[in-house]
Amino acid sequence: MSIGALRVGLAGVGTVGGGTWTVLNRNSDEIQRRAGRPIDITAVADLDQAKAKTLTSGKARVLSDAMALARDPEIDVVIELIGGYGFAKEFVLAAISHGKHVVTANKALLAVHGNEIFAAAQKQGVMVAFEAAVAGGIPIIKALREGLTANRIEWIAGIINGTTNFILSEMRDKGLPFDAVLKEAQRLGYAEADPTFDVEGVDAAHKAAIMSAIAFGVPMQFDRAHIEGISSLQAKDIAYAEQLGYRIKLLGITKRHAEGIELRVHPTLISSKKLIANVEGAMNAVWVKGDAVGHTMYYGKGAGAEPTASAVVADLVDVARMLTADPAHRVPYLAFQPDQMSALAVVPIAQVRSCYYLRLRVKDQPGVLADITRVLADGQISIDTFFQREPDEGMAETDVVLITHQCVEHDMQAAIARIEKLSTVLTQAVMLRMEAFV
Ligand code: HSE
Repeated sequence: MSIGALRVGLAGVGTVGGGTWTVLNRNSDEIQRRAGRPIDITAVADLDQAKAKTLTSGKARVLSDAMALARDPEIDVVIELIGGYGFAKEFVLAAISHGKHVVTANKALLAVHGNEIFAAAQKQGVMVAFEAAVAGGIPIIKALREGLTANRIEWIAGIINGTTNFILSEMRDKGLPFDAVLKEAQRLGYAEADPTFDVEGVDAAHKAAIMSAIAFGVPMQFDRAHIEGISSLQAKDIAYAEQLGYRIKLLGITKRHAEGIELRVHPTLISSKKLIANVEGAMNAVWVKGDAVGHTMYYGKGAGAEPTASAVVADLVDVARMLTADPAHRVPYLAFQPDQMSALAVVPIAQVRSCYYLRLRVKDQPGVLADITRVLADGQISIDTFFQREPDEGMAETDVVLITHQCVEHDMQAAIARIEKLSTVLTQAVMLRMEAFV
């Protein structure tokens, strides 16, 4: 029996839109054999019509208004590659209300408005697929939602922003400061002209919020995430961490906690022996611990035209295969049945347990270490490792670096406040979290 083609409307022909057109056309025969029907982009919308026309060379209708795709009765599925939360949200909700299935790469939209979007989609019985929203070409949504469905997920830790991983790798390799490497990343096209979302950890937090929802069956809680980026990270801390056997990575972490779940993005020290510590440059990796499977790790390109298109097209194939299935028997958007979502809330960072790296700028005189260690002992914080740098020639001050055993962040912050008041401690402490991931 031959089934008609799945008719797709593509909104946005930027990097990923172009890649999607190319991959879908280049591999159309194999994709059809997998999907059971042809998948055709029949209409494309972009404000830049000339670009859309060049891309499609007469093989698809070209529109300037994406809303026309959302309303078009000749379209079964829309691909949203517009980005942002404004018009993209209106477009997605309009497409859903007109009974279209949606494929999107928009992590910001889902992390912030996902609860509303999934509720609307469920009401209409349409699919919203978003493999491309997290870690680009790595099929991590599929792995978490389907491949690991037997497991109780314990934690996820991911390098889910390639821009910051590139910057951290370069800072470590070349000993350069953040600002210099960021400029280089912009010159090479890795970082956006406005890199705020990437370097301040917001992009990674969007992706972590989505993975957290799927792993733990909770709603999107991006607004509760603790977010720290890498813009104030100093090359000297990367170097000291390395001397101690650690690398610093910007990780998106979500974990079970006795009182809820943890959801945080921050620079993190990880033993350089761990696989994830050796993920360099713009590559992404997601490490997942499930109770049955143990440790699993997924590695690949988190951005770029064809890697991201790989995920978009996989979603289209899923839609093609599931189109005729009863909506109640499709794979749930967030892995758990909508009426089985848990109310687990994100715990405040002050309640999180971690090991800590501290760097203190101190006067080089007797009793300094004794003062610092006394404050830590008073707070029941145990030191694992420390070293003191030789003072620079002619300087009466130096750096003391230490790593603690696990403690609650609230206790660590209280100890730091007391340490910073010591007359022998000259500047604000640098505090970074360290994770063992067992
Ligand atoms: N800006 C992201 C990154 C890619 O640097 O990884 C898209 O999610």
